This record gives sequence, C-alpha cells and structure tokens, in this order.
Amino acid sequence: MSKQNKNNKEKLVIFDTTLRDGEQSPGASMTKEEKVRIAKQLEKLQVDVLEAGFPAASEGDFEAVKAVASAVEDVTVCGLARALENDIVKAGEAINPANSGRIHTFIATSPIHMEMKLRMTPDQVVERAVWAVKRARDFTDNVEFSPEDAGRSDIDFLCRVIEAVIDAGATTINIPDTVGYNIPEQFGELFHQLLTRIPNSDKAIFSAHCHNDLGLATANSLAAVKAGARQVECTINGLGERAGNTALEEVVMAVRTRQDYFDVDTRINTREILATSRLVSNITGFMVQPNKAIVGANAFAHESGIHQDGVLKHRETYEIMRAQDVGWHDNKMVLGKHSGRSAFKARLKELGIELETEEALNDAFRRFKELADRKHEIYDEDLQALITDANNQRVENDYYRLVALEVGTGTGERPHAKVTLWINGQEQTAEAEGGGVVDATFKTIEKIVDSGASLELYSVSNVTNGTDSIGETTVRLEKGGRIVNGQGSDTDIVLASAKAYINALNKLVDEDEKAHPQAHL
Ligand code: KIV
Ligand code: ZN
Repeated sequence: MSKQNKNNKEKLVIFDTTLRDGEQSPGASMTKEEKVRIAKQLEKLQVDVLEAGFPAASEGDFEAVKAVASAVEDVTVCGLARALENDIVKAGEAINPANSGRIHTFIATSPIHMEMKLRMTPDQVVERAVWAVKRARDFTDNVEFSPEDAGRSDIDFLCRVIEAVIDAGATTINIPDTVGYNIPEQFGELFHQLLTRIPNSDKAIFSAHCHNDLGLATANSLAAVKAGARQVECTINGLGERAGNTALEEVVMAVRTRQDYFDVDTRINTREILATSRLVSNITGFMVQPNKAIVGANAFAHESGIHQDGVLKHRETYEIMRAQDVGWHDNKMVLGKHSGRSAFKARLKELGIELETEEALNDAFRRFKELADRKHEIYDEDLQALITDANNQRVENDYYRLVALEVGTGTGERPHAKVTLWINGQEQTAEAEGGGVVDATFKTIEKIVDSGASLELYSVSNVTNGTDSIGETTVRLEKGGRIVNGQGSDTDIVLASAKAYINALNKLVDEDEKAHPQAHL
C-alpha cells in the first residue's frame, strides 16, 4: 500500500490529531474559527491528514469539522466516529465538503475495555467493527479503523479483528497505545507480528497512535515505523490529554535527521514547524517548556562555553539539525517605524501570511504602525504575534469590548485599576484594587460583568527577547463545565491580559460555542 517518495524512500503519512485528540486535553478546547486557523496552518505545514474533531460529540464539533473540511484543499480531513450509526452518519456529513475526506471509526479490543466499558463479547466486537467499517464506506472510500487500547489487547484477537475490517474495506489500520503503556521494543514487535501474521495486511496502511504517559510516545511511534508502520498519528507540541500524544515535530525531525536509519520520509515543510507550534500554544494556552525538543526556546541555544566554541568553529560539532530548518531565524530587525505599507505587505508574504481582504491588511498595517511607535525594532515574531492578535480580537460581534484601561501601582500603594467596557451598546466603568495590577484589572472587569466564571489559568510569554517584547497572554475561564481560552497580546502585558480576559468572556457568552467534547467520548 505504501508509495515511494522522490528520494526513493517510502512515504510516511503524517496524520495530525491536534484538533481532536489534542483538544481532548482538559482546557484545550477551541472554537470553530480557531480550528479553521490551525487547520490552515497545518495545511501549510503539509500534513497529509488532519483529524478535525469528533462530529457526534456536539453540534459545535460537527460544525467545526465541516468548517475545516470547507476551508482546506490540500489535506485529507478526517472525522472520528465510534462504531455507532449516529456517529458514522455525523462524521460522513461533516467531512462531506472536503476535497478528500476520511472517517476514522474505532472500538475497544482489550479485555478490560470490552468487559468493563463496552460490556460486549469479543465476537460482538468483531461483528460491530466490521459493520462500522462497511457503514463508513457508504460515505467515503477512505476509512480508518482503530482497535482502541490495542497496546493492551490480545494479539490473536487483534489479528482476527484487523483481518476482518480490512476485508470489510478499511484502508488504514491504526494501532493505539491508548493508555501509553507500551515500551518501544514491544510496540515495534507488535507491528512486526501484525504485519506478518495478518494475511491481508498488505491491503492497508498500518499506523501508530501513541500516548505519552511514560514519556515514550515518540520512541514507540518510531519503533513502529522501523517495524513497518507507514502512518504516525501525532499532535503539535505533543498536545493531548494526560501526558499528551506523540509530538509531530519530534517524529518528523527524527525521521528527517536520521535518513541514514529510516527507510521513510514525510512531505512536511519543516520550516513551518515553529509557527505552527506557536499558533497552537497561543490558542490553547498550553505553553511549550523551554527545553522541549525542536520547538522549546532553548532547543537550539548553546549556553556552555565549550559548546559555543565548537559550534562557532564547525556547526556540526554540537548541532544535529539547523534551527532555520524548523523555522527559527535570527532575531533580526525586519521592519521599523519608517517602513511603508508595501514593505510590510512584502514581509508578511515572505512569512507566508496572507490576509484575505484589503480591510484586514489595512487593519494589520495600522496595528503595525502603533507597535512601531512603541517598539524600535520589529522582528518576524512581532509580525506573527500582531497578526495572531488581530485574528483574536475581531470585535464586530463581540458582546464585551475594552474601551479604556488605567492602572496604578507604587511602593506603599495598593495596585488598582479603572476599566471602561462597552457592553452590548453601553459603556460601564468601575474601579478596584488587587494584589497586583493584573489582578486589579481582572477584579475590575468582573465587578462590571459579574460573569460567575472561575479563572483556571493565566499565562504570559514573550515573543522576542527584551523588555519591550510583545507579551502573549492566555486566560482560561470555566463556567458550568464550559472551558474557554482567551488570548491577547501587546507590549504592555496588563493591556494584553485585559484583552485576553475579555476575549475569554466573549467566548463564554457565545451560546454557539460547544461544550468540551471530552465528556462524550
Ligand atoms: O488513544 C486512542 O485510543 C484514541 C482512539 C480514538 C484512536 O485516540
Ligand atoms: Zn488517543
């Protein structure tokens, strides 16, 4: 089933599930618009398949998958479905607008899941799996089947189910280590056994889907690839519930860097990795740790004198990858106060940022000029943050808008804030004190709106070095089981924080936004 790449390597299909398994991470829920933005970036990154959600989970998830399916062209859009009629129909309808669509259906095969969760016998599970694949084929020829908790399933039973679903028309067989229990050698051996023992295994692509509970998700996925897997399911930054999923950037760069070892390659445009990582972390509020492989702030920083000396003499003494190849660039000044509209537009183009309308370009340029008044040197990272903020703060339909913010603090003085909000057509002002100016700002906003939400997370990160850097802030609010993330950025982090808080409040009042889909799985 596998194809040859132009460099004579077999193709490794990259299946990104940031928008589905990644979103199941508590607190990482995304709006439809946010999913579309990430999906477009994943298309630029050139993933082969993107799993956009679980359409039967909620109306919001259904609409989000449909919107993603309509928004991208050069990537297969996948919808997840349990082996149930309604799930499969919803997934089929949601992926319908896609140029290329896939249904991913699953049922558990481990003794503990079959007995305790499904309360089904192994025979019933085989029968349901076969039915589900056939039903999914009514909507698309591209059907993936997963025996959930395969990592703890009996191998003879796995062989039986998989042979049956391939006969029923499954074109991809995904092997999930659902609870992150496997060890690389063992997981590789599982693939070897499945590929050699199942008589029709050559009729499907085998895929690895690993969770990171023991910190082994990438190692397990690579062991599977070495044993013959030709698809890896992964997420940006390893996002996912509990300890997360396999990190896309790690698998892709391991395979790319060790072409001497792997017989496969991907079509990923690695230069888009960092921008994708930043977008996902900004939208979800899940920060990347500084020492995270590939995308962490220190991933390419050489602190020790010995290393610096070596790298200066010959880069490869201590570097196995080039930082530029994954999207890092020197913090060079690209634009300044006097740069004109065409220079601005040209730089955005070089960064692969396309603004859809003239109005959006004008708005972005106005923001750029404002920023240039406050910040002497504007870097690529600033431009990316500025566009992200413009996307986050599309105010036309917002219920709450920030009109004015004033804060005060000093030695021996209680930090305080004064905020004016525009609420559905009327202005309201309040003042409050707090532990610090950010705390005072949030308390003042709450004094006005009285949302009843609880603050679950507040984080700030700087996009470049220096105290004049743009700070990107995330505010996570929870109310009645609904979790939303708000974002804001500015060189003034108090203002950025206020924007993020108000952005989160607007998402809470948006009745159309879905509840977190995790509850339905
Ligand atoms: O981890 C898992 O088992 C899953 C399945 C739905 C494939 O995410
Ligand atoms: Zn999973």
